[in-house]
Amino acid sequence: MTQKYRIKFYYGGRAGGKSYAFADSLLFLGRQKKLLIACLREIQDSMRDSVYKLLCDRISSYGLSDYKVFEDKIENKITGTRFIFKGLREQDIQKIKSLEGVDIAWIEEAQTITSGSWKILEPTIRKDGSEIWISMNRLYENDPLWKAVAARPDKRTLVLKVNYYDNPFCPEEIKLQAERCRREHPENFGHIWLGEPLSQSGCRLISSQSVQRAFEKTIMSTTSPLVIGLDIARFGDDRTVFCFRKGRLCYKFESFEAQSNVDVANIATNIINEYKPRRIFMDIGGQGAGVFDILKDRGFGEIIRGIYFGEKAIKTDRYFNRRAEMWDKIARWLEEKPQPQLVEDDELFNELVSVDKKYDNRGRLMLENKDEIKKKLGRSPDKADALALTFAEPIYDYGIPKLYNSGSVSVEDIFKYQSRRHEDW
Ligand SMILES: Nc1ncnc2c1ncn2[C@@H]1O[C@H](COP(=O)(O)OP(=O)(O)OP(=O)(O)O)[C@@H](O)[C@H]1O
Ligand SMILES: [Mg+2]
Repeated sequence: MTQKYRIKFYYGGRAGGKSYAFADSLLFLGRQKKLLIACLREIQDSMRDSVYKLLCDRISSYGLSDYKVFEDKIENKITGTRFIFKGLREQDIQKIKSLEGVDIAWIEEAQTITSGSWKILEPTIRKDGSEIWISMNRLYENDPLWKAVAARPDKRTLVLKVNYYDNPFCPEEIKLQAERCRREHPENFGHIWLGEPLSQSGCRLISSQSVQRAFEKTIMSTTSPLVIGLDIARFGDDRTVFCFRKGRLCYKFESFEAQSNVDVANIATNIINEYKPRRIFMDIGGQGAGVFDILKDRGFGEIIRGIYFGEKAIKTDRYFNRRAEMWDKIARWLEEKPQPQLVEDDELFNELVSVDKKYDNRGRLMLENKDEIKKKLGRSPDKADALALTFAEPIYDYGIPKLYNSGSVSVEDIFKYQSRRHEDW
């Protein structure tokens, strides 16, 4: 606890001992030398919301007479250490500036901190050697501070998970409560007591570890053909995204704000001419149909394939629809050995790991409703959908496609239909 890190991030379920450990450590450090310690949370309507009371209790239970408790602050009479308490949401820029001299900022209940608050706070805690301590009971997969700090920690960040069974002081009564919850409400146990984000307990399609591993992988070269997934904006709010993948290597995303059909077709034409993809799989559920027609008209029928996310899967016995089938391909691809590489991208990370899987009454895999996903992410998973599209059909690498039947059937097509009957696909 007293080791030096720029950020200490403790997370976990109820009664892991996070708050007590932070309070005790800070009181201890504040007796060694003069520190300015800011106890922060997103909203603090009154001092009662803050860790003020916990600090007072710990002072009195240890009998630390060197600490003097005021109405809105706590001071150490010997070292001059001062604890102050603030809600970030109420802070205007001027008041945030008053945090510039802070040595340690403790952010409690950090699952409620918004990315806006964090963006202002982090650069403000800028004194030499200053530290930020964060305690969090995770709420959602994409808690802003989790994403910003803990999902992919750097060397200066300590991330530790602590649960009630790690807490040597955990009262027996609380352990009993936890055990009862495990028996009677197993669906809540993971979130409340194990610190898992809500609804993650076992129902995410893609694990964050597998995405992280693919971000860290480096593939030097590949001879696999280029396949592009094209997810086209639907209701104006979404982006049009091209995903570039060559076998195990997914190396690029290109995004464009909502555009007309002709604009998207022009961009696609340029991409085809420049990169010569073997295939472009495009979503033709909405606006995409128009783009598809333009591209076909321009003579790209050999390269483009239109896909409806909602259409029947190729393996109808295993997947509820095409979308679930393609997304499951991503999940399997990420687990493949040798490992694939995925270009590092925060948006992509969140999109991939926030989608839950379900099963229909025939036991077929399905994804949660698109509206649910949108609610979680605040937008559509455009990049992940574009990646999914690259898995729409297998691509065989036979060099330049040979054309038969006056150009309308390629050798790949012949194999493609055979492969649909093949058990492993
Ligand atoms: N150093 C300690 N000395 C005595 N009791 C402790 C100590 N640390 C933790 N406890 C006990 O463990 C309980 C849980 O600790 P704490 O409240 O710090 O957990 P937490 O991880 O902050 O949990 P929550 O997520 O519920 O806020 C406390 O109520 C207290 O009874
Ligand atoms: Mg706590």
